[in-house]
Amino acid sequence: MGRHWVSGDPVATAFFNSLSISFPHAEIYMIDSLKPWRAHVSDSMRKEINLFIQQELNHSREHVAFNRGMIEAGFEFQPVEKDIIKLVKELNMRSDLERLQMTICMEHLTAIISSELLSDDRHLARAESELHKLWIWHATEEIEHKAVAYNVWLEATKDWSDLRRWASRCLYFTIISYRFFSNRLSAQIYLLQQDGYSKSAAFFAMMRYGLRKDGLLRRLAKPWAAFYKVNFHPWSVDDRHLIAAGESQFTMVENINDSANKYAKKNDLSKQSDNIAA
Ligand SMILES: [Fe+2]
Ligand SMILES: [Fe+2]
Repeated sequence: MGRHWVSGDPVATAFFNSLSISFPHAEIYMIDSLKPWRAHVSDSMRKEINLFIQQELNHSREHVAFNRGMIEAGFEFQPVEKDIIKLVKELNMRSDLERLQMTICMEHLTAIISSELLSDDRHLARAESELHKLWIWHATEEIEHKAVAYNVWLEATKDWSDLRRWASRCLYFTIISYRFFSNRLSAQIYLLQQDGYSKSAAFFAMMRYGLRKDGLLRRLAKPWAAFYKVNFHPWSVDDRHLIAAGESQFTMVENINDSANKYAKKNDLSKQSDNIAA
C-alpha cells in the first residue's frame, strides 16, 4: 500500500483513510445494535440481520488489515482511534432502541457514500488496484443491506405515530451527521499534518476536495437531505443497478476473500476483530 494510494493525492487519500480508521469500530457497534432485535422479528428479517452481521464483520476484518497497511505506509492515528473508541463506548450506554436509531442514521451515511463511489468511478479511478477493489466491494455490500436496520427500526417503532417516528429519526440523524462529518474532518486534518500540511492548509485542502464541482461532499448533499423527508425509506432511491455495476468492477471477489483470509490468519487479524468486538 503506497502512502498516497488514491491517485498519489494526499488529500483524497486522507479522505478515504479517515473513513477506514472509523470502520472496524463503527461496524462492530452496528452489529451489536442489531443483535438484540433478532429475538423480536420475523424469520425472514432475522435472516437479513444475520446476513448484515456477516457482511459488516467481513468489512471490519478487511479494514483492520487496511488500517495496518496505513501504519506500514508511515501513518499514525492512535488519537483518532482513541476518540472513536470513546464515542462508541458512549453510544453503547444508550437503550437498544436508541442504538438502533443511531445505526439507521450511520447506515444512511454509508449508503449514500457507497452510492456515490459506485456511480462515479472518478473518485477512486486512479487508486491502487487491490485497494480500489476493496472499496468497491464494500460499497456494493453497503447498498445491498442498506435497508436492513431501517426495516428493523420500522418494526421496533410500529406503535409510534408517524410524527414521532419522523421527529425522532431526524433528531438522531442531525446529531450523528454532525459528529460523523466533524470527526472525519479532524481525522483528515490529523493525517494531512503528517504529510507536512499546516492545520489551516489541511482544512482548506479538504474543503476544496469535498466541495469542488464534482466533489464527494457536494454530491452527497442531496441524498443526505433525503433522510429528512417524511416518507423516507432507504429504497426510496432504487440504486440496485449499482450492485451489478459494482460487482462488474471486481470479478475475483472470492479470491480477494481467500487472500484476505490467509492474510488475516497469518497476521492474527481475526483476533484483532474479536478484540474490537469484545
Ligand atoms: Fe460496512
Ligand atoms: Fe452497513
